[in-house]
Amino acid sequence: MRRICQLGFLLLCFLEGGVWSLRNLSITAPRAVLSGEGQSALLRCSYDLEGAALYSIRWYRDEYEFYRYVPRELPPTMVFPLPGATVDLTRSDDQQVFIVNLNRRLSGVYLCEVSADAPLFHTDIRSAPLTVVDMPFHAPRLTISRGIYERNDVLHANCSVDEAYPAPNITWVLDNQKIAEMVSKQTLDLDFKERAAFSQLEINIREINSYNTEAIFGNGYHESAYTSQPDHYQIGDMSYVERLRYSMFPPQSGQFTINCIASIYDVYERTSELRYIKEDNPRPASVTGKHSSGVTTVCNLFFICICVCTSILGRML
Ligand SMILES: *[C@@H]1O[C@H](CO)[C@@H](O)[C@H](O)[C@H]1NC(C)=O
Ligand SMILES: *[C@@H]1O[C@H](CO)[C@@H](O)[C@H](O)[C@H]1NC(C)=O
Ligand SMILES: *[C@@H]1O[C@H](CO)[C@@H](O)[C@H](O)[C@H]1NC(C)=O
Repeated sequence: MRRICQLGFLLLCFLEGGVWSLRNLSITAPRAVLSGEGQSALLRCSYDLEGAALYSIRWYRDEYEFYRYVPRELPPTMVFPLPGATVDLTRSDDQQVFIVNLNRRLSGVYLCEVSADAPLFHTDIRSAPLTVVDMPFHAPRLTISRGIYERNDVLHANCSVDEAYPAPNITWVLDNQKIAEMVSKQTLDLDFKERAAFSQLEINIREINSYNTEAIFGNGYHESAYTSQPDHYQIGDMSYVERLRYSMFPPQSGQFTINCIASIYDVYERTSELRYIKEDNPRPASVTGKHSSGVTTVCNLFFICICVCTSILGRML
């Protein structure tokens, strides 16, 4: 009889849901952190026990538990080895866990599981992906087929990045404007292999429609975008390469800059050297521009000459 009463009481509590329950469990973790000595990741789980006591909080990487906090036990903290990193106990508690000196093999899904105390032991779990990044050693390398162009030329540019984990994305930048991005495929199998990244860009320099230059320059010459479906071709066994295409009108100055950026989430970004591409035979600028000042200089020189000549002639006579 007493047992039935107890059960009934528990059921009541459970149905009411307002007592001894666990609410608003959420996990906060960086999407990516750098690997190596001195690097760290702070993972945090916040929850609302609505007045109940905490029974335990457990942290897992994939299915392996690496940290447990049970307030009733002494000491409350238990740490299980996490190969390739260390849990800093001085900065870990009933809400957060602080992991230091991570290695890229610790990339994966991190979970926190919170249990409220008796009688219901209401338990909930949340997860977040975390990638431990090994950055490339060098800045991305940019090579260009030619540093000069003529109208209707096609220029080829390559951008390559050293091996890294995960493979970086490559962004192409023309005159400080991002024009295209090569998104590296993320391998799902957790082999933690470092991969290089490579992207090719084909720039078509178009002939200006001379009847419509105002409109083109007015709207910026980056109007025509790269092809939305880049070519894919295979190099070696595994890696696919994208060739991006971009067509543009030559800028009014006859010169533009190009560079590429390698990035990994928000923890790594490095740019290649900046290269200048110039027009081979710049066409004369409009008559109202530099030429008028040239003409006045010539006139002035001519005038000075006449003055000097007349004064010399005057003295001679
Ligand atoms: C918990 O979540 C509910 C619903 O999303 C919200 O109204 C409430 O303010 C949250 N409580 C806390 C303590 O964050
Ligand atoms: C770009 O890379 C491809 C493939 O390796 C190569 O054939 C081509 O010559 C390179 N072009 C430039 C401009 O470096
Ligand atoms: C690459 O870019 C895509 C799309 O912007 C983004 O979702 C992905 O996280 C990026 N990958 C890396 C490694 O930064």
